[in-house]
Amino acid sequence: MKAGKGLAAVMIISGSLGAGRLWAAGEKAPPWAAWDKGPSTINVSAYPPEQQGNYKLFASRCARCHTLARPINAPFTPSEMAAYVKKMQKKPGAGINGKVAQRIIDFLTYDYSVRKKKVAGKAGGARKGQTAQAADRPSAERAD
Ligand code: HEC
Repeated sequence: MKAGKGLAAVMIISGSLGAGRLWAAGEKAPPWAAWDKGPSTINVSAYPPEQQGNYKLFASRCARCHTLARPINAPFTPSEMAAYVKKMQKKPGAGINGKVAQRIIDFLTYDYSVRKKKVAGKAGGARKGQTAQAADRPSAERAD
């Protein structure tokens, strides 16, 4: 498996740093440095039309200040992601109103149920130092 080595390295790095909210200034890199390097798109072609529309909002609003890969690969549960959407919404110039935020949360919740939980959910997500990026690989390449 080609991605094996990279994922192992990511797990060691993020494992030593702990979850995002535990990262402190002075560490080598924040946890999202690894997430930023993962896949930067989600193949939503099999998602319901409503979620495909929500994905477009997510892709345009959540890639203004950092890579879209960051939220795609952040190994958080839907409720944790909802909290992050609200946190991001408050940042100056975010341009995310309540309705848009809710649609993005709907998308992230759906995406978790069909894609992200396959990796992040199994091991308790960030608390176990994982990233969600392996779940984005086509099923044919996956080991499970
Ligand atoms: C106005 C700029 C801005 C926008 C827009 C934005 N972010 Fe962020 N995001 C940041 C910054 C800055 C950080 C670095 C950590 C921090 O300051 O919270 C960050 C970090 C993150 C993280 C890492 C978690 C952590 O530990 O802090 C996630 C996940 C995230 N953003 C998700 C999103 C999502 C989802 C959206 C769209 C709803 C979004 N971001 C839109 C600025 C933004």
